[in-house]
Amino acid sequence: MGRAYVDVVNNVAVLGHSHPAIEAAVSLQLRLLNANSRFLYEPMVHFAEALAARFPPPLDTVFLVSTGSEANELALRLARVATGREDVLAVRGGYHGWTGATDAITTSLLDNPRALATRPAWVHPVEAPNPYRGRFRGPDAGARYADDVRATLTRLAAEGRGPAAFIAEPLFGNAGGVVLPDGYLAAVYAAVHAAGGLAIADEVQTGYARLGHHQWAFEQQGVVPDVVTVAKAAGNGMAVGAVITTRAIAEAFRTEGSFFSSVGGSPVACAAGLAVLETIDREGLRANARNVGAHLRAGLEAVASRHPIVGAVHGMGLYLGVELVRDRETLEPAADEALAICERMRELGVVIQPTGDGNNVLKVKPPLCFTRASADFVVGALDRTLAEGW
Ligand SMILES: Cc1ncc(COP(=O)(O)O)c(C=O)c1O
Repeated sequence: MGRAYVDVVNNVAVLGHSHPAIEAAVSLQLRLLNANSRFLYEPMVHFAEALAARFPPPLDTVFLVSTGSEANELALRLARVATGREDVLAVRGGYHGWTGATDAITTSLLDNPRALATRPAWVHPVEAPNPYRGRFRGPDAGARYADDVRATLTRLAAEGRGPAAFIAEPLFGNAGGVVLPDGYLAAVYAAVHAAGGLAIADEVQTGYARLGHHQWAFEQQGVVPDVVTVAKAAGNGMAVGAVITTRAIAEAFRTEGSFFSSVGGSPVACAAGLAVLETIDREGLRANARNVGAHLRAGLEAVASRHPIVGAVHGMGLYLGVELVRDRETLEPAADEALAICERMRELGVVIQPTGDGNNVLKVKPPLCFTRASADFVVGALDRTLAEGW
């Protein structure tokens, strides 16, 4: 038998690796039929209905695709057709995919250091609402960050333009699991709606019960988006993605003809998608994310209290981030240290990686079957690494 590692980064394998429920669902469907999704099959209907049932009204209509990039690409098209506009506001530092339009709205410096200098004219990056290292850090931070969105909308209006959409992760995944300041999305969605635009929530990383307290991260902000995108966890590693929206927005899209993506929502993809949803419920993975996530967070906070290099522990449930800084006042990112610490953790048996524009936040987003024993192991390995050196 080979060496065992604790995996704390693979949010795609939401149920855990090699889960028998996925293997069984996929192999059964493969023996029956797997074909072009231009045709309707039972697994497609079952998956779409099960997915829609997990969203609040009026989010009741589902488009099936294969990846997060495709889902966001379609979300942008839906918004553009429904509003008849082109412009999109996107939060700075976000990652939304690699395809043409999703790359255009991506300004993660880690993924593209030249991003902010090279955006097309229809993309309007807005200030990242990061209450740890951004400009505003107090209880009114949410409202103050929303000011930048309102200012962008005012500038667009002065130019005779209006927004098609605002897109953001409802928990700042790419920054390392930073919870958005209270009231931020409520204020932003209100402003965008008042300007005639739509709100898109990119739940590709943050959805699927990962936050424990919530099924979807937008619930943490007390808002309901117009369009939600999911992928990654949606298939536990199989290529499954979806866009969930309102009937009215989907109807508006009819002017574009029919929508299909040959293998997006194939019968096998849908069998996997349905098995993921059912297994999360059956195995109580949302409660596990809440309970083990709280235990893990407490352990990481105890590590932070012993080692000044840990500037903050971000996130909730099983979407956490350990932000490493050289100085707790200046918050200078400890990027080289983060890489070296990850290497040392790997030697100790923990698979972990840095993220964020400063490449200094250890991302902690393990499969939702994570145990307290694994959490203790990870906390012990980090504590040992920081105490002994790396
Ligand atoms: C928040 C977010 N949106 C979209 C995507 C793109 O998804 P995919 O890689 O499936 O195209 C990613 C991928 O990392 C992501 O993290």
